[in-house]
Amino acid sequence: MRKLKLGVLVSGGGSNLQSIIDSCETGYLPAETAVVISNKPEVYALERANKHDIPAYTLLSKDYKTSREYEDELIFILEKHDVDLVVLAGFIKVLSPYFVSKFTRKIVNIHPSLIPSFCGRGFYGKKVHEAVIEYGVKITGVTVHFVDEGTDTGPIILQRAVPVKDDDTPDTLAARVLIEEHKIYPEALKLYAEDRLIIKGRRVLIK
Ligand code: GRF
Repeated sequence: MRKLKLGVLVSGGGSNLQSIIDSCETGYLPAETAVVISNKPEVYALERANKHDIPAYTLLSKDYKTSREYEDELIFILEKHDVDLVVLAGFIKVLSPYFVSKFTRKIVNIHPSLIPSFCGRGFYGKKVHEAVIEYGVKITGVTVHFVDEGTDTGPIILQRAVPVKDDDTPDTLAARVLIEEHKIYPEALKLYAEDRLIIKGRRVLIK
């Protein structure tokens, strides 16, 4: 059977990318990482792709006149590599409804909080964990969801809770959340690859 081909979009260190690559290589995840694309130059995620002989591209917004041209190039590369599922792994650029319409229900994202808390525009990276600590919630977590036209609004596939400790800093909390991210993303992708997800409106049921 043909393996599911993943196109992973990144902007930084790529530790989630690594957990996906490793899960494919061990056979846990019946998929292959077909291509990695970064919107930032020289990030470590690109090096991770190179180490595993995965084609890697850097696409900088500044090199394109419009966001439509940028996204057309993104689509071109993903199609060239026969990508079945677009996996956002720390990709900080917001994709337009145009891009999303080209891959309906074929884009997933991981967000380091329990959506719908601490998500949406402006909530990315360390800012999420700073807001969690400042608000004083006792539980945060991780969400893997399908991407729709909104920011962090698509149907939720899996969530996992992570406790917030009294002495947490944004960095210690981010590190604890990341440990769960590295487990939950391969799990969610495995469910997708095994065709076990049924989307009913906003709800994603697991077969
Ligand atoms: C992760 O916390 C992810 O949830 C968020 O950005 C971070 C990326 O980390 N969207 P990495 O590049 O995968 O290490």
